[in-house]
Order: sequence, then C-alpha cells, then structure tokens
Amino acid sequence: MTDRMIDRTPVPEVAGVIIPWFTPANRPTEDRLQETAGLVEALGCNLAFLRAEHVRKVNSSVLLSGGILDRLAEDLRQNDCTVAVVDGDLTPVQQRNLERKLEVKVIDRTGLILEIFGLRARTKEGRLQVELARLLYERSRLVRTWTHLERQRGGGGFLSGPGESQLEADRRMLDDKILRLRRDLDDVKRTRAVQRAGRKRSGKPVIALVGYTNAGKSTLFNQMSGADVFARDMPFATLDPTIRRFDLPTLGEAALIDTVGFITDLPTHLIDSFQATLEEAMQADLLVHVRDRSSRADLEQAEDVMIVLEQLEAETGLPLPPMIEVWNKADLLPDDRAEALAFSARGPLDTPAVLVSALTGTGINELLDLIEAVLLKGATEIELELGTKDGRARAWLHRNGEVLSETTLDSGNVVMTARLPNDRLGQFYSEFPDFNPA
Ligand code: GTP
Repeated sequence: MTDRMIDRTPVPEVAGVIIPWFTPANRPTEDRLQETAGLVEALGCNLAFLRAEHVRKVNSSVLLSGGILDRLAEDLRQNDCTVAVVDGDLTPVQQRNLERKLEVKVIDRTGLILEIFGLRARTKEGRLQVELARLLYERSRLVRTWTHLERQRGGGGFLSGPGESQLEADRRMLDDKILRLRRDLDDVKRTRAVQRAGRKRSGKPVIALVGYTNAGKSTLFNQMSGADVFARDMPFATLDPTIRRFDLPTLGEAALIDTVGFITDLPTHLIDSFQATLEEAMQADLLVHVRDRSSRADLEQAEDVMIVLEQLEAETGLPLPPMIEVWNKADLLPDDRAEALAFSARGPLDTPAVLVSALTGTGINELLDLIEAVLLKGATEIELELGTKDGRARAWLHRNGEVLSETTLDSGNVVMTARLPNDRLGQFYSEFPDFNPA
C-alpha cells in the first residue's frame, strides 16, 4: 500500500507557505502551523519555509499587503520554490493576481485540502467524491472569475463576447461532468443502502469511528478489527469508509466503519461530496469520537468535529447516533495526566469516554466493554402491527432501529419486532403517535 502511495506522489515541488491572520483572535497557534506543515508535506512537497503573517491592511486584489508580498516573493525566489501556499481563503481573482506577481503556482487552503484528498482517495467511491469536490470548486471559481472579468470590461462591447461564450462553454462542460459524477455516486449510494439494509437485517450492531484528522482512527480500527488499513502520520490517510467486522465481548460480531478525518474549515464542497460516506456514519448504532488527547489543539479539534456532525445532522435530517469518546494516545501523556483523565472519563454533555492507546492496545478491552454497555443500555424491544398505510413508520424503524423480525399476516398487515435505543423510541412515538401505547 505504501509503495503505491509513493508511486502516485508527483515529483516533489518546493513550497513556501504563509498563514495570513487579521485579528488577534485568528492568530495561528503553534499547532495550526504544524498542521499546515503536515498538510503541505502530505502533498509530497518539500517545505522551504512556513510562517504566519499579520495582514494589517488587506489589499483586495492580492489579499496580502505590500511588505508581506515583497518578502514572500523574495523568499520564494531565494528558495527556488515552485509553489506558494496561502493557508487562508483566496478569491479566484486574488489567486490569479498572486500567481502573476509571484510567478509560481498559488494554492489556498481549500485547494490544498482538495489536492491531498485527490492523492489519498483509494476506492472508486473515494475518487468519484474527490473529483466531484474538485469540479464543484473549479466551477465556483470559474463563475466568479468570469463575473469579475465581465465587470472589468464594462460588461459589454465586442471583447466580452468571445470570452463570455468560452467561459459559458467551460461551465457547461463542467456541469455535464458534475452531472455524470453525481449519477455515478448515486449508484454507489444505492449499493451502500442495499449493503446497509443487509447489515440491519442481520441484526449486527454498526459502530462508526469519527474524529479529527490524525486523531488515530485508522490505528484504532486496525487494533479493533485486526485489519491492515493504511495508517500513517499524515493527514487524511483515510478517505474511504472502510468496513470490517470485529467482535464484542458478549454480543459477538459487529461492524466497524472508519471514516474520513475532519479538519478545521473543511471545504464545503468536500462535505457535500463526502455526504454518502458520512451518511454511513450517521446511520450507525453508535458513533465513537476519537480524540488525540495528547494534542494541544484537542479541545478545538473536538469542537470542530462536533460542528461538522451537527452540520451533517441538519443536512441529512438524520439524528446523530448515540456517541462515546475515545481519548487516544494515552501513551504520550505524562502519567499523572493519564491517571486524572482515566479517573474523570466523561466528555462534554457527559458523554461516556475511555482512555486508550490505539498504538499499544492499552484500554482497548475497556473500550469494547463500554461500546457494548452503551449499545445494550436502554434498548427496548417493541412489537407492532403495521398496515399498508404505515409505510413511513416501517421505513423509519428500518432506518433507526434494529428490525428483528417481520411476519406478514393473512390480512396483509405486517407484525414487526424491532429493537430501538430509548431515545429513538421517544422519537418514534412522537413522530407516529398512533403507535404510542401510553
Ligand atoms: P486520518 O486518516 O487523517 O483521518 O487519520 P486517522 O485519524 O485515521 O489517524 P491514524 O490512525 O492514521 O494515526 C495518525 C498518526 O497517529 C499515526 O502516525 C499513528 O501511528 C499515530 N497514532 C495513532 N494512535 C496512536 C496512539 O495511541 N499513540 C501514539 N503515540 N500514536 C498514535
């Protein structure tokens, strides 16, 4: 696997990187600097320099103020850089103006993350999703660039004619490609839905790992399932949801899903394109939020993960599954801190948590016990008779519960037994009050 990754890495480019900041509140921390360095290196670039720059006065055409731009140009030249990374948001026009001035390729944060995703996608689905994200990003740039040119040219005159139609043609071509990709992804979604239904029918619990990039999901995944998933100290090693079986102490076989790592300012195009993947996690019986407790940025990262999850909840209309936290990288913590954390293992909103080291395997048995306890806690078995008019309730139960059996009666009605976590049971009764025995 490693060899293949290296094969696909392009000839190393030399990158000069700046992180612009504007107010003390968004001054980058040391961890942010490190994260950016990691992203650039993950792209296969050699890092010539990286620094934060305080932009006191924004120059709308190039973002950076004159002094910063001159110094950047000089350092890029001195270091024979082939790429300048501006770890912030650039408008298409700013990007183009910077490229002209600096005479190197310029990439902003979204571009950077998209590039890395492109390199890391392993399955057909992953590649489709990245390609879609890239096209959506390109398309948004194309439109804005075009609008800007239009304005520059006064919005009319014979000069705007050919340019406009060329851009229109480009846009149409992108639209066609986007449509085709969406169709292909719909096929993938359908296949996934069939597989998911199969898993639900089998009654095996499904557990999904989520977390900030590099928190240790793949390492934990390997520990729990004995699978050899690519785990490396680089962001976004995991792009495709990988599903493996693992064993719980008494419940036995269960399915474990590894998901794409989250990151601060994850480009919205990516969230859109990875929806199919992330929906998979949203339909799990339990979410395991993996946190790197040894990172100084742990709290902010955990908050960012929650923001993305809430965004997904709003977009998909699927309620978040119950959640526990894994406090990972215990082996990197000083003993007294590890002890204190193990003692008070509860996350925000009293989420149950367990301290582990995915690398050494410490705490994995406790994690399995906790998963099982949460899965079993408060699950209620119900039996219902569903008529033809109850299709929506039946679909809801399939989606949110574990359907244990369905028997069709002579009348055509279906008697269903299903197991639902208690919070879902409440939701079910409030959505379908006719079934509420109370
Ligand atoms: P993405 O694919 O980016 O989402 O990353 P991930 O969350 O899957 O992280 P991964 O498992 O790839 O681990 C990232 C790095 O952290 C690797 O170098 C792992 O070896 C390391 N790591 C993971 N768990 C532990 C741990 O418990 N202790 C230590 N010391 N390192 C760990």
